[in-house]
Amino acid sequence: MDYTAAVITASDLGSQGKRIDTSGPAVCKMIEDAGFHVIHTAIIPDEQAEIQKMLIYCADELHANLILTTGGTGLSPRDVTPEATLAVLDREIRAIPVAMWVESLKVTPRAMLSRAVAGTRGTSLIINLPGSEKAAKENLSAIIGVLEHAMHMIAAEGH
Ligand code: MTE
Repeated sequence: MDYTAAVITASDLGSQGKRIDTSGPAVCKMIEDAGFHVIHTAIIPDEQAEIQKMLIYCADELHANLILTTGGTGLSPRDVTPEATLAVLDREIRAIPVAMWVESLKVTPRAMLSRAVAGTRGTSLIINLPGSEKAAKENLSAIIGVLEHAMHMIAAEGH
């Protein structure tokens, strides 16, 4: 597969070096195993403006085909990743979070506490994942099988 990916970890503690980010590396490994070439990773604070800026950079400057975020999808006042993502999307893809909820609810009812969103900006597919390594991996597992087809469609390579 000839597609690129960026993985953004939104975490106040991680960005201050007060918590080791294991979710970002775990997500990178999963998408590399699926054939993506990871071209950018970052750990940034839970600040809506910073998250939006990073998403725009990855989409508009790096032209990453896939942009995954991890963290900041929950209910704490600092959880703003979905708001930042919605602000930069051209088109929302509502069924991607639905697929993640369906699979995740089989694991834990707490899955309903993620407010993850997904969609496209230009030729980039942006998907929010929850912050814990376990949750990020479980959510990504639910959708990883359709990512290649999504890439073809976004690149206008037909069905
Ligand atoms: N989804 C799966 N598959 N497994 C999990 O353990 N944890 C949930 C949810 N989604 C979880 C999950 C919990 S406890 C929360 S608070 C939300 O994701 C949001 O996580 P975040 O704030 O770290 O993004």
